[in-house]
This record gives sequence, structure tokens and C-alpha cells, in this order.
Amino acid sequence: MIVLGIESSCDETATAVVDDKANVLSSQIFSQIPLHQKFGGIIPEIAARSHLEKISVLTESALSEAGIGLDKVDAIAVTQGPGLVGSLLVGISYASGLALSLNKPLIPVNHVHAHIYGALLGLQKQPEWPMIAMVVSGGHTNLYYMKNSLNFQLIGYSLDDACGESFDKVAKMLDLGYPGGPIIEKMAQSGDCEKYSMPVSKLANFRFSYSGIKTHVLNKIAKIDNLDSEKKHVCAGFQKAAIDQLLHHFKKAAKKYPECQSLIIAGGVAANSYLRDQLIEQTPFACHFPELKYCGDNAAMIAYLGLREYEQSPQQGFTTEPFARYPFEEYIRNDL
Ligand code: KG4
Ligand code: ZN
Repeated sequence: MIVLGIESSCDETATAVVDDKANVLSSQIFSQIPLHQKFGGIIPEIAARSHLEKISVLTESALSEAGIGLDKVDAIAVTQGPGLVGSLLVGISYASGLALSLNKPLIPVNHVHAHIYGALLGLQKQPEWPMIAMVVSGGHTNLYYMKNSLNFQLIGYSLDDACGESFDKVAKMLDLGYPGGPIIEKMAQSGDCEKYSMPVSKLANFRFSYSGIKTHVLNKIAKIDNLDSEKKHVCAGFQKAAIDQLLHHFKKAAKKYPECQSLIIAGGVAANSYLRDQLIEQTPFACHFPELKYCGDNAAMIAYLGLREYEQSPQQGFTTEPFARYPFEEYIRNDL
């Protein structure tokens, strides 16, 4: 089975072709970062217009990179949400049009869950279930207990900012540019994380919090005279505290759910090498990370989750509606 994936939830337009052996036959990504950089964040109207400009040509590129025509595509998977509604609508309208005209099923995909599937791409052998999975992105810090590959039981989430969002906001405070994660990671490499050590939030019940650390950084930098030469140390202290919070919850999850032998960590922040190194060093799990190119937003993860969902329930339609916010009520489990 071959699925064409389409992603347009935020600031990347992406298309990909994936098969049922988790092979990525093609993956095309157009990043809008240069369009938004001067504003220090994403401007929704600019994002939607850019998706509209790129989506058709990127779809053609994905098909030609895969060496197939639309006739060989069995289904079309598209990001349904969460995301910017104007941006989602571009992908959904385009994918719905394709599905209708080709008489092929349309599979609406949850973007946050798809990040987890980014870690399964290209694997010959799928990891063992049940497992703990975490999505750490610019919009979400979600912890899941997964009984099987399509069972997303949300056991933890952030009460305020997402982890990636805090990297972006701290980078903005330090005037380092956007997106903040990769820039802070690079600065931190030459910094001393003890010079400005910061508190780590350790709330109960796998609840994450990233707004306190942001205020902490703000107060700290207000007291620094020569900020330019100190930025790398601030970055190192912040990165350690932000990532140590994730590690704290992982270790707790490992203790609470000893039947889980594997861990997936996905989403933009999963690209962070301090996080990767510490996870491998500190947790008893077999850790699965996406390849770096599948940590951030991409359409291969959308296509692959769509493919697995379609296999499980092939009765899909031709159209779908976007949703802006992650449907917490549907997935949250307080009873575990
Ligand atoms: O998953 P993603 O590409 O988009 C969303 O669905 O949100 O994640 C983007 C987020 C941004 O907040 C970015 O700053 C963060 O991931 N990020 C990182 C790193 N690379 C990207 N955070 C920490 N370290 C990194 N190396
Ligand atoms: Zn994402």
C-alpha cells in the first residue's frame, strides 16, 4: 500500500510518499522560517498564503521523487489538526480535492500523534508495545502510554507553555532569533550550565510547566550587566533546566509502568542532543528517536500514521474539517 501525505499545520509545507513497510519513498519540505523570521514568530496569514503557493508544486515533487504517478497512490493522508486553521484549510482543501477527483480515500491525521510515527519511519523492526511516548514540540509537551500502535492514552501534558515554545521565547528574550531551539542548543554547547543554574519544575501526575522558567530567565538577564558575553551561559542553564524536567517525568514513568520496555521521544525538541544523550544515559528504556529530518514537521509521519489508521479502519471519506486545538478530552487518562 502507498500513501501520499500532506502537511500544512504551521510553518512548513510538506508532502511525502510512504509505503506499508515504513519506507519513505519521498519527502519534500518547504520551510517558511525565512518569511516569519523578521517578525520573531509565525504570522498566520503569511503562513496560509505561502502554503497555498507551494502545496501543488510540492505534491508533484514528492510524486516525481518517489517515481510514481497519482494512479499508484492508494490513499491520501492529510493533517487535520491541531494547527493554524487557515493553514490547515489549505492542506485539507487540496487533499480533499485530490481524493474526490481520484476517487481515493482521504485519511485525516492528528499531527501530534503523527510525530510519534516519525520515530517509526524506516525501522525494519517495530518497537515492542506497550510503550511510553512523548511529543515535545513548539505547541505540545504530551506524554502517552501506548498499549498498542494506535492507542494514544494521554497521561501527561503541559499546564502552560510547551517545552519548544519556551526555547522560542527565551531565544526571543536574548535576541537570538527564531526558532529558538536549535540556536539555544548551539549557544549552550560553549556555555557553563552551572553559572546560571535554574529551577526544574517537578509537578505531580506528569504535569509539565514551562512558564515559570521563562520568568526566571527574564529576571536573571535583567541583572546581568554584560549580557552579550553571558548569553551562552544563560542558554546552557536554561536548556539544562528545560530538558531535566522532561527527564524527571520519564524516569517517573519508567517506574510507574515497568511493563514498558521502549520509549519514543518525538517532535522538534527531540532533535536536541543534550536530551538525546541524557535520555540514553539516565533511563532504563530502549530509546527510539526520529531521524533528525523527521523530528520537525514533515509529511512522511503524516502519511505513515494515516496508512496504519487506514489499514485498521478502511472506511474513510473524501472530505474533513480542521481542528485548531488538540482534543485533550478525547485522549486524556486520569485513571492509570
Ligand atoms: O515539531 P515542530 O517542528 O513543530 C511543532 O509541531 O510545533 O517543533 C518545533 C519546535 C520549536 O519550538 C523549536 O524551537 C523546537 O521545536 N526545536 C528545538 C530544537 N530544534 C527544534 N528545541 C530544542 N533543541 C533543538 N535542537
Ligand atoms: Zn509538529
